[in-house]
Amino acid sequence: MKRKIINLVLAAVLLSTAACNPSAESRQSADNDTVGALLDSVSFTETIAGKETPLYTLKNSSGATAYLTNFGARLVGLWVPDKNGTLTDVVLGFDRASLYHNEDEPYFGPVVGPFGNRIAKGQFTLDGEQFTLPTNNGPNTLHGGTKGVHFVHWDVKSANDKVITFAYTLPDGQDGFPGPIHMEVTYSLSDNNELTLAYQATSDRKTVINLTSHAYFNLNGEGSGSILDHQLRLYADQYTPVDETLIPFGELADVKGTPFDFTSTKTIGADIDQESEQLTYGSGYDHNFVLNGTQVNGLNHAATVSGDQSGIVMDIYTEEPGIQFYSGNFMADRVTLKSGAKDSYRTGFCLEPQHFPDSPNQPNFPTTTLNPGDTYATKSVYKFTTK
Ligand code: BGC
Repeated sequence: MKRKIINLVLAAVLLSTAACNPSAESRQSADNDTVGALLDSVSFTETIAGKETPLYTLKNSSGATAYLTNFGARLVGLWVPDKNGTLTDVVLGFDRASLYHNEDEPYFGPVVGPFGNRIAKGQFTLDGEQFTLPTNNGPNTLHGGTKGVHFVHWDVKSANDKVITFAYTLPDGQDGFPGPIHMEVTYSLSDNNELTLAYQATSDRKTVINLTSHAYFNLNGEGSGSILDHQLRLYADQYTPVDETLIPFGELADVKGTPFDFTSTKTIGADIDQESEQLTYGSGYDHNFVLNGTQVNGLNHAATVSGDQSGIVMDIYTEEPGIQFYSGNFMADRVTLKSGAKDSYRTGFCLEPQHFPDSPNQPNFPTTTLNPGDTYATKSVYKFTTK
């Protein structure tokens, strides 16, 4: 089945009816096999836990379009031009809001927090006070616990067709975190196909924070098959090796001479089956890479990745010190995506700019403590070009 790839002209016509107004309709005049994952705000919008969960749209002058929703401040879809100018949906997600409210939902596109990634044994200490979080990933807490910020509705603070700001206040003690923590994330789409996520947080109490986007990408298009032939370069000479529960030991190890060496471009699959204790622990790549400080416009260049079929290139620039590279190892045909395809094994990957896993328990890692009176502010840019 030919899906999710439509030509630029058709896309421009179809998408021109979508608007940032959630009640606006994005009507499809072509059949679903042709337009694939194009989203319809009327059929997307549903009520989750008593709250309306609409679709919001950002669109630039070249027709590139980002779809978002307030449940988890999620990126639902992202259409960017491929090497032929054909718009392609490079982000995995669902075509109906309620499908995001599901335990089998593997964090498709939300902001994760207040502490994205793992906290060992669901415990950390601040000023001698111990905090205990629900454990939801073996013995550890993953992505903020049971509710986190992915399973809650964020308010829409402001929205137009280029920029949207979501805001959420995490109540004191939710999932065990000290708070309240006031958070905002602003998504903006520029005319040169850069999607920027700017995060802010303040807290009334000393707490920890590590917000990131958990978008799954397939640069050949959602549902187009394995991501193992994507070409990847990471601007990281070191990574943080982990134990079998994916908690770092605290040391930084050189990637040189290991399957973790992405300092020159290679396919994601090139070394993924090499014999390596670290790859066994991760069931593939599921590791934090330490960015080496390569600067572009004042940001750390984190990654360059390209789709072997589409020629779509994504560069990630960030203020964060690390990036978690997860090669979709736990994807297992549990859910059906917008395109009609299943979330099959390694048909999406995540590159999550962030602080290092388990930082609250790791004195040698850059701090993730947020003090009252301070403002956490960080941004990451996902830039799309073609080759
Ligand atoms: C984690 C993976 C996890 C995935 C989905 C990633 O950020 O590192 O271990 O399976 O999120 O939850």
